[in-house]
Amino acid sequence: MGLADFPRYPLTFGPSPIHPLPRLSAHLGGAEIWAKREDVNSGLAYGGNKTRKLEYLVPDALASGADTLVSIGGYQSNHTRQVAAVAAHLGLKAVLVQENWVDWPDAVNDRVGNIMLSRIMGADVRLDPAGFGVGFKPSWEKALQDVVAAGGTPYPIPAGASDHRLGGLGFANWAAEVAHQERELGIFFDVVVVCAVTGSTQAGMIAGFAGQERPRRVVGIDGSAVLKETRDQVERIARATAQLIELGRELRDDEIEVLDGWAGDRYGIPVESTLEAIRLVGRLEGVILDPVYEGKSMAGLIDLVGDGTIPRGSRVLFAHLGGQPALNAYSALFR
Ligand SMILES: Cc1ncc(COP(=O)(O)O)c(C=O)c1O
Repeated sequence: MGLADFPRYPLTFGPSPIHPLPRLSAHLGGAEIWAKREDVNSGLAYGGNKTRKLEYLVPDALASGADTLVSIGGYQSNHTRQVAAVAAHLGLKAVLVQENWVDWPDAVNDRVGNIMLSRIMGADVRLDPAGFGVGFKPSWEKALQDVVAAGGTPYPIPAGASDHRLGGLGFANWAAEVAHQERELGIFFDVVVVCAVTGSTQAGMIAGFAGQERPRRVVGIDGSAVLKETRDQVERIARATAQLIELGRELRDDEIEVLDGWAGDRYGIPVESTLEAIRLVGRLEGVILDPVYEGKSMAGLIDLVGDGTIPRGSRVLFAHLGGQPALNAYSALFR
């Protein structure tokens, strides 16, 4: 089965826009930087990378007869907000376990931004004191059992829709979309820069691009501050996705590139380079990045272009995966 044989339930506007960032490119003075905008990919609660992944999970959920989507994330999870939006859109219920992934002192961290949006959309939001971890959690198992006990039929969606058989397909499709847009524009992106945490965004891209004729680098920037775990997760999902879409070969180790150096000490806590990247891109381009994911991956891009790791003359595609609602929980940093 190739990628085209998997059912896809449209939740996005269509191909997400691609555009150059000319003032940022001039400022960095090396590679030519473009962005592909998953932050404006859908009309469902601001969209984002999970909305694309969910396009491939929804047919499975509907076929299973589920009436409740059950998922998990941090208090300011973008993922659970997108699950809440998709559930509302489909007329399903959503149960969201929201854990204390980030020890962040903002007084309204569990009230504004993503979590507020999920509540507005009618999700059953359950706060849990557990800390960061993208694996399977007891609180999530309990939420699933609760739905069954109440006579419902849950559909489990793991953190970031990543550790799921179909989790890599959304961004394998993204790779095909990029190739199509490149043909239309008459250009080629030598390097893609993408934030990696639960892993299936980068993993799907790697599997998707691996089947294309012209090779390119897909550079993941770790946003979790646990590089080995992030890389293992990306590798595992990339290999499974490659097999699922019948790539026809094993991925090489050098196709899985996850770099650290911009996550700081902890997931969810921005560092100086994160804030500089957010301010720089805001001031030069009017493009908004968040302090948990995209500010960190952009900080990586800035340094990799600056030190020549991404050579002059390259054309770089920054995958903007969304996430801006979380900014509301970080207002103290921008007073
Ligand atoms: C805005 C944003 N960027 C990047 C990521 C990382 O994507 P992934 O979890 O698929 O590695 C996420 C979600 O975790 C996100 O919400």
